[in-house]
Amino acid sequence: MSLSRSLERALKVRLHTQLAADPRTHAWTLSLYRAGEHHPETVHDYFPHEAARPRWPWLAEQLKRHAGDERRHAALYTRAIRDMGEEPLELDGLDVLNNTIRAQTRATWAIRPEDGPDVVRIRIAHFLAHAHHLEHRVDRSVGFHVEACERVGSARTHSIAEVAARVQADEVRHISSTLEALTELTTHRERTAILELHESAENAADLAFSSRQLRHLGVAFRDRFGAPDRAFYRLTAVAMELGLALGARMS
Ligand SMILES: [Fe+2]
Ligand SMILES: [Fe+2]
Repeated sequence: MSLSRSLERALKVRLHTQLAADPRTHAWTLSLYRAGEHHPETVHDYFPHEAARPRWPWLAEQLKRHAGDERRHAALYTRAIRDMGEEPLELDGLDVLNNTIRAQTRATWAIRPEDGPDVVRIRIAHFLAHAHHLEHRVDRSVGFHVEACERVGSARTHSIAEVAARVQADEVRHISSTLEALTELTTHRERTAILELHESAENAADLAFSSRQLRHLGVAFRDRFGAPDRAFYRLTAVAMELGLALGARMS
């Protein structure tokens, strides 16, 4: 594991452990996850099974199943939040990871009635690549969260770890199914370019989303963190924002 990956892991597991230790911040974390799971239900360009059906009926079925998994994940998080005596937050805008990724993505995958077969194929490919990299991120984050819940070791965090591990198992399946479908639809050259575009959007979005949430935490849950932690997380947010600005200048 590279040094930056090890540092990221240490930082995020530490943060998730602090969040999971308190039902209020734990519920807030699950609301962030829930918002991403619910996002497909709020837009018209996710899981384009109707556009896929004429040429790739197997993909249409796969996309419908995938959409169903995400609906089930949102419901699992809703129940988990209520089980800890809290209410889910209805988040929108850049507090939804998917929207932050969209804001960093220089491509669209919305299919229009006038689109010819090749445009439809490329747009479905863009959706699959977007979903593939998003699933990677969710898998990593949920993995950190499961580890943190086990560290806290209370009855509440134990049951949330079970829910999150169930979600994670589906996300791992989605990582491979989206890539397999993308491979069927595209040439090697097309796929490489499309994957690169969505990977860099996702990397930038990770910095933008994490720094935004770190700043929010220090204000909304001020009493939950000591002054040194608040200063550390503020500095981390600044470092992420600098990384984002630097990346934008170099691209
Ligand atoms: Fe999910
Ligand atoms: Fe997923």
